[in-house]
Amino acid sequence: MQTTLIILKPDTLQRALAGRVITRFEEKGLQIVATKLMRIPADLAAKHYESHKGKPFYDGLVSFMTSQPVLVLALRGVNAIDISRKMMGATFGSKAEPGTIRGDFGMSNSFNLIHGSDSPEAAQRELGLFFNKEDILDYDRHIDRWVYDQRSGTPE
Ligand code: RTP
Ligand code: MG
Repeated sequence: MQTTLIILKPDTLQRALAGRVITRFEEKGLQIVATKLMRIPADLAAKHYESHKGKPFYDGLVSFMTSQPVLVLALRGVNAIDISRKMMGATFGSKAEPGTIRGDFGMSNSFNLIHGSDSPEAAQRELGLFFNKEDILDYDRHIDRWVYDQRSGTPE
């Protein structure tokens, strides 16, 4: 099982698309294990995007991410990190494939609706930035015996 950090960016909330985006993840089978509506403080945005510091798009990215509230989620599932990234689509709305979140809902390259951790290391780091340990809940879902084939003892 992996847990990944997802941020529904300010444009998703301003365009009232949060429910539709969350529904996609739920329908896929990913489990919501934490959520938080917040304005990202500038110092947290800087930490979150520290690997992009100095790049031409950095200042615009941080000002966008801090401009309006975001909805932060922790999603869990087998291979949750890669699966979520595939569902998000390519970084730029103009390039993202139809069928993906960015491909279906966005035109813009900077207002690109959603963030998702891109590796297990990034997920661990980002979950720690946005959530306290006790905010991330372990719980069983009734549906998981049909979302996964668990007959061997491990979810497949
Ligand atoms: P994110 O971190 O937001 O999930 O997006 P990502 O992995 O698909 O893309 P990443 O390379 O990490 O870039 C972070 C955000 O910076 C903006 N960006 N602009 N103009 C550009 O060349 C450029 N490259 C990246 C995007 O808003 C991207 O989401
Ligand atoms: Mg990224």
